[in-house]
Amino acid sequence: MRITLNGQTREIEADPDKPLLWILRDDLGLVGTKYGCGQALCGACTVHVDGQAVRACQTSIGDVIDRAVVTIEGAFGRVAEVVEASWTKLDVPQCGYCQPGQVMAAIGLLNTNRKPSDAEIDDAMSGNLCRCNTYQRIRAAIHEAARVLGA
Ligand code: FES
Ligand code: FES
Repeated sequence: MRITLNGQTREIEADPDKPLLWILRDDLGLVGTKYGCGQALCGACTVHVDGQAVRACQTSIGDVIDRAVVTIEGAFGRVAEVVEASWTKLDVPQCGYCQPGQVMAAIGLLNTNRKPSDAEIDDAMSGNLCRCNTYQRIRAAIHEAARVLGA
């Protein structure tokens, strides 16, 4: 199966039903994408497929044939750079485990909405859980990123 992964064409030999999460982590060593629940409940495994935030634990490798997958390791470009800078500026992470998924979800949001309201942020990020309760800093960092992107 052929996919585009972080801008590079990759040939993957696997059961088409195998979750993308395990292809990324176990087969390709891209461990920035985290396993949390395996049931689309936590968002730790969030990646982008054709620019949309999806749950890699519930997406099979067969679902992404000839599509563009981007993981936290390959999140480049203006929006990604600004989001990552805002996360650093506001010191968002605590333990850090959920943060790759949070960052990918935030990039997905700002790709489609450059000035999200609190309600729009809460709605877009509601599927990304944080056991360390960094939600207020995540929201502030998204506003900061939106401010920089709009400057
Ligand atoms: S591990 Fe995929 S949503 Fe929790
Ligand atoms: S920073 Fe620890 S789970 Fe979110």
